[in-house]
Amino acid sequence: MLKAEWEKRRTLVENGLIREMQEGEAFDARLAESMKYSLLAGGKRLRPILLMAAADAVGGRGEDYLPSACALEMIHTYSLIHDDLPAMDDDDYRRGRLTNHKVYGAGIATLAGDGLLTLAFEVLARQPGVPADTALRVVREVSEAAGANGMVGGQALDLESEGKHIDRDTLCRMHMAKTGALFRAAIRSGAILAGADEAQLSALTEYAEAFGLAFQITDDILDVTGDEAAIGKPVGSDERNHKSTYVTLTSLDEAKLLAREAADRAHHALVPLGEKAAFLSELAEYLVTRDR
Ligand code: IPE
Ligand code: IPE
Ligand code: MG
Ligand code: MG
Ligand code: MG
Repeated sequence: MLKAEWEKRRTLVENGLIREMQEGEAFDARLAESMKYSLLAGGKRLRPILLMAAADAVGGRGEDYLPSACALEMIHTYSLIHDDLPAMDDDDYRRGRLTNHKVYGAGIATLAGDGLLTLAFEVLARQPGVPADTALRVVREVSEAAGANGMVGGQALDLESEGKHIDRDTLCRMHMAKTGALFRAAIRSGAILAGADEAQLSALTEYAEAFGLAFQITDDILDVTGDEAAIGKPVGSDERNHKSTYVTLTSLDEAKLLAREAADRAHHALVPLGEKAAFLSELAEYLVTRDR
């Protein structure tokens, strides 16, 4: 069931993203092309899918929040473009094609990221059908997660930790920030948009935090054991950059075990939500079985 459900939702997201990128006349054609180059390059579309799935899980209709879901994917894609820049991880491939800066140069690539980040908030602000105070709450949720105390902060810690030994707690904090924060915001935003109550929101927050950690641990594992054609990005990037990861700090086997434990925590967190959370539960299982 997971694959069919996933594909259905992924198609929705693809169409939503194309629609958002068609709006208005482009001020600078090359910048617009560069933004589309990375945004419309495929990808698993997990964050928008999770936003909609969280809305479904609390009794809402996830599809109604497709624009907000797309906004999360814009922020994620911006983070990937910047993450690949020569001054960061200096990677040449992403989503099965040359990285943005390899095609458009580091200047336009930086601006494409800036453009996507800003567009995301424009799209969030004009999400139809939600009361203004709810929209504002989501903007706050997402901005806190994406910013210096969330994803951007985690990325800074990641850079500063290159070539250094950091302890397990610091690594966990780094992963929760650089990757977990955006997953958390996607899931919480879906729930907030759909009018979740406090108990539902708290269950989904617990799910999201475990999900984000398991996801990044598996990303670290795939950087060692993955197949480049499947993951669409280089294997061995972490080693080349002397990164601290779950694999370098523990071992491949222990990292797998820790991902399994986090995925189990994610499953467990869904119990209070019952049947409506079945899709989220399948996604938690995917965390430890994924090969891309
Ligand atoms: C990769 O994210 C970067 C991390 C936060 C680990 P994804 O694995 O979700 O990348 P895409 O969106 O499928 O390309
Ligand atoms: C990056 O982590 C997380 C982001 C916020 C983009 P990685 O540097 O491990 O992501 P990949 O492996 O390049 O996708
Ligand atoms: Mg990185
Ligand atoms: Mg990277
Ligand atoms: Mg990685």
